[in-house]
Amino acid sequence: MRASRVTLIFTIALMAMSILAACGQTPAAPAAQAPAAAEQPTAAASGAVTKTYADMTLCFPQLGAESDWRTANTASFKETATTLGIKQLVFSDAQQKQENQISAVRACIQQGVDVIALPPVVEDGWEPVLTEAKNAGIPVIIVDRSVSADPSLYAAHIGSDMVLEGERAAEEFNKMFPDGGAILELSGTTGSGAAVGRAKGLRNKLNPNITILDTQTGNFTRAEAVPVMQAFLKKYKPGTDFQGIFIHNDDMGIGVIEALKAAGINPGDLKIVSVDGTRGGFQAMVDGWFQADVECNPLLGPQVMEMALKLMNGEPVDREVLTNETVYYPDKAAELLPTRQY
Ligand code: AHR
Repeated sequence: MRASRVTLIFTIALMAMSILAACGQTPAAPAAQAPAAAEQPTAAASGAVTKTYADMTLCFPQLGAESDWRTANTASFKETATTLGIKQLVFSDAQQKQENQISAVRACIQQGVDVIALPPVVEDGWEPVLTEAKNAGIPVIIVDRSVSADPSLYAAHIGSDMVLEGERAAEEFNKMFPDGGAILELSGTTGSGAAVGRAKGLRNKLNPNITILDTQTGNFTRAEAVPVMQAFLKKYKPGTDFQGIFIHNDDMGIGVIEALKAAGINPGDLKIVSVDGTRGGFQAMVDGWFQADVECNPLLGPQVMEMALKLMNGEPVDREVLTNETVYYPDKAAELLPTRQY
């Protein structure tokens, strides 16, 4: 009785299998074969396809080519794109004009890029175009400088802590002028996250016995810094009215040195702190012009592309990624200069 029941069940099972086979279907895998199914990649098993760098079209509407820092930043993106073998890097140069950057972002939205990496020339005025990108389902990574727009309009920010850079500069002046003094400030592009942050940081930490005599923009360029320094020298007596200069980037610092040399001022007569840590800045330390150079690292390509890939695959990312930086001094400048990448 028991044997015939087993035979009956076996016969029914065989019939079911042949019916399924006839319909072109495969019966459920027996339990013993289950591990083979579990070896499938999770994304494939869930129906999702994992994207790779070869699938990536990344929009990079660069803000300009105003400095050696910027040139190194552009090179970092282009070299990383080649090394990783991304499908396309959509590069443009906005020549320090926000309207050009906005047009470039709109063209990228139109093209349907995967991710936009935006280094904003200034902080304000990005809401409309960031909303357009969001509505098109294109994630935006804010790169280098910050924006004032609501963080819900972009995926993340990767760059330097500009306020900390200004605070570090202030600490250098505090050490150099323990009995107080006066400094001039050559600031970067008006309204840019870099200039706003560095100015704020300087004021946060500068000792009350050190005054900021005057501040003028040199727009982060050598060419524009020269006349600004010349005008300062006409207005204020170096050594008497002011003893130091805080310069928001090395390119402007090189312009300042040009103006100081022409006025017969020697290295070390004034205490200068700059920002970036480019080769030009290191040379200025070797030559005795800069007493400190606060690092601002432009080599952001690898981090940005890694994050862009995560966004393409719907993976979570850190909303704020700040670069780990330091301060460089003349004592190590000659030794480090040949090793500098930018
Ligand atoms: O936003 C970074 C700043 O922009 C760098 O300090 C400067 O050199 C560049 O132009």
